Amino acid sequence: MSKYIIKKCPRLEGQVEISGAKNAVLPILAACILTEKECVINSVPPLADVFVMLEILKSLGAEVSYDQSAKKAKIKAERILRAKEEYDLAGKLRASFLIMGPLLARKGRAKIPLPGGCQIGTRPVDLHLKGFTELGAKTRQLHGFIEARCHKLTGEHIHLDFPSVGATENIMMAAVMAEGVTVIENAAVEPEIVDLAEFLNKMGAKISDYGTNTITIKGVKSLKGARHTVIPDRIEAGTFMAAAAITGSEITIKNADIDHLGAITAKLKEANVETEVINGGLKVYPKGELTAFDLKTMPYPGFPTDLQAVFMSLDAVAKGTGVITETVFENRFLQAGELNRMGADIKTDGRTAVVDGVKKLMGTQVKATDLRAGAALIVAALKAEGETEIGDIYHIERGYCSIVEKFKGLGAQIIRVEE
Ligand code: EPZ
Repeated sequence: MSKYIIKKCPRLEGQVEISGAKNAVLPILAACILTEKECVINSVPPLADVFVMLEILKSLGAEVSYDQSAKKAKIKAERILRAKEEYDLAGKLRASFLIMGPLLARKGRAKIPLPGGCQIGTRPVDLHLKGFTELGAKTRQLHGFIEARCHKLTGEHIHLDFPSVGATENIMMAAVMAEGVTVIENAAVEPEIVDLAEFLNKMGAKISDYGTNTITIKGVKSLKGARHTVIPDRIEAGTFMAAAAITGSEITIKNADIDHLGAITAKLKEANVETEVINGGLKVYPKGELTAFDLKTMPYPGFPTDLQAVFMSLDAVAKGTGVITETVFENRFLQAGELNRMGADIKTDGRTAVVDGVKKLMGTQVKATDLRAGAALIVAALKAEGETEIGDIYHIERGYCSIVEKFKGLGAQIIRVEE
């Protein structure tokens, strides 16, 4: 298996360009099957998850092309020849479940493998199915697949028990051509929801108040093709900001959307790390010794769960003790065990972790257990004495493109070794 070998990094410097957001582009690509016309999506990051999603669209009958150097994808779903996702493809990508809403809206039927759980949680889809049922679909689970059928979808008032990002996206896509008005209450408000809604409206949908907890969707007869540029990845930006913080470096983040980073810059300020918007970039620089902070993950605009692991690495070497509470997923402290093998002092109990900052981390062999835990190990390895080997890096490369090149560009000593 491939691995990264990372040496202690005394200082990062220079600037890094943020790519398009994984969690925005995946629902946007799924939305392209809502129309027979061609959609052109820019700033599509060359990620493993993106390649799988494009393969899935192709397997349904869409014409798909992706210019990796231009980061441009063209999708034309003139004919959707089948409404069933192949298990071997869908099984590689949990977000493949986001095809269900568009398929129901376009074909009136869908058969999608029930997404399994993953390391961070059981990842249920009950809120997605509740929304589809309320819009008039019949759903059932059979032999590991979810089947959904409807004669037509009719707008409804839907309340989500939890502001689920995926459920909000799936229901929004199912509702855009439903008859009448759909209201989603307690909707997710993440920037990725806003980006999807803006793309759908460019296609001719009539979605209002997206980005608030109550989204209104007026059904239309059909959608047309559209061009769209995906928003920058706020989680990638936060990962590089944490790398600057842990090494006490000044770097500039280019192409990030500063408005999406409020919780991250506020937490870094608590840790004695300043940020400043300068010449269209975001400068990150230390104000003094890294100071421990408490952290509680919340739905947007709270602190993002996807940066909890990376910020745990900061607390692991900060002065003092930090208490981290993970409120979104039930099992998202897998990085703690690997960080402790590097000499960290982290005690976890359910959804709470107590992190006592240590003076030194020691480089050793560790493994990425999931996407964001893997990113946390890269950040920790920059600070650890000696050399750190990170295995199972396929987790990391699902969600971070050109991460070795980007860190090398900042002066880190990181190499990727094929084994
Ligand atoms: C999206 O996952 C992101 N993935 C996740 O990023 C992110 O962590 C998460 O939103 C929260 O921000 C993509 O966008 C592809 P949720 P999603 O539905 O939609 C429960 C990463 O690292 N829930 O908001 O699956 C669920 O169990 C990934 O990039 C239900 O109970 O997240 C969880 O506890 C990881 N029933 C909570 O809601 C449902 O039907 C949040 O899940 C759906 C969700």
